[in-house]
Amino acid sequence: MSRIAYVDGQYLPHRSAGVHIEDRGYQFADGVYEVLAVVGGHLIDEGPHLARLARSLAELRIVPPMSDAALRIVLREVVARNGVRDGSVYLQITRGAAPRDHAFPRSAEPVLVVTGRRKKPPDPRLAAEGIAVITIPDIRWRRCDIKSVALVANVLGKQRAREAGAFEAWQVDGEGRVTEGTSTNAWIVTADATAVTRQADSAILNGVTRLAVFDIIRREGYRLVERPFTVAEAKAAREAFVTSTAVELLPVVRIDGDPVGSGTPGPLSQTLRAFYLAHTAAAA
Ligand code: PDD
Repeated sequence: MSRIAYVDGQYLPHRSAGVHIEDRGYQFADGVYEVLAVVGGHLIDEGPHLARLARSLAELRIVPPMSDAALRIVLREVVARNGVRDGSVYLQITRGAAPRDHAFPRSAEPVLVVTGRRKKPPDPRLAAEGIAVITIPDIRWRRCDIKSVALVANVLGKQRAREAGAFEAWQVDGEGRVTEGTSTNAWIVTADATAVTRQADSAILNGVTRLAVFDIIRREGYRLVERPFTVAEAKAAREAFVTSTAVELLPVVRIDGDPVGSGTPGPLSQTLRAFYLAHTAAAA
């Protein structure tokens, strides 16, 4: 089945689909995006993703190109036309194409692109064995709450992780506190079995997976605290893990080469992962 992309009002063959060379997403990273998981042909947590998209657009003062109801139809159409049962949908909205000038153009129309991708779920070995992370300075802008396509700092960070043989890089603010991964939220579990993750301030993206795990923690009666934690605290923690749409929930077993806890996936991480997988399976 050949891939089909939705581009600014049309469904086009993926390989030849494109936007204008003066699209402001291309020239200024002047746009936002979302990644939604598809499980069993169903979109996971569509409501929270669309709510965050609306917020990101509002923060950048980009007018939504269509209603949520219309967008939901396009997302389903892309899932169907690409035969996605398990995989993901990527959607991006930029301020549109206009002659290059930093200030907002007077007449540009926002451009929506949606692509779908069939993908196997993340390698089960990652969850069974746990992942390694490194820590790096957080060099990003101060509005990481906006899901902007300006990801070059994240790209550099992820590449550093790859080159260090790690799965993810945890970014660290000027006070030695972990903000988040380059494409995941960062968590630790303290000695009294409390799950800790940074509060959703402008230093992190408020992950939809993070919020789904909040619901699970509350429902199941575990303890949760939203606060910053340092790299030293993370290294001394009982457990650590990361969350995102793409990786679901993965235990972290090494930070900068040092083992976390026993150096194997922790029990709360494994339990929360199982509940999260049940949450996505329930949608299917
Ligand atoms: N990344 N933090 C950052 C910087 C992210 O880019 C992401 C998601 C998350 C987790 O958010 P969510 O749980 O809503 O996926 C946290 C997506 C998957 C990506 O860029 O591919």
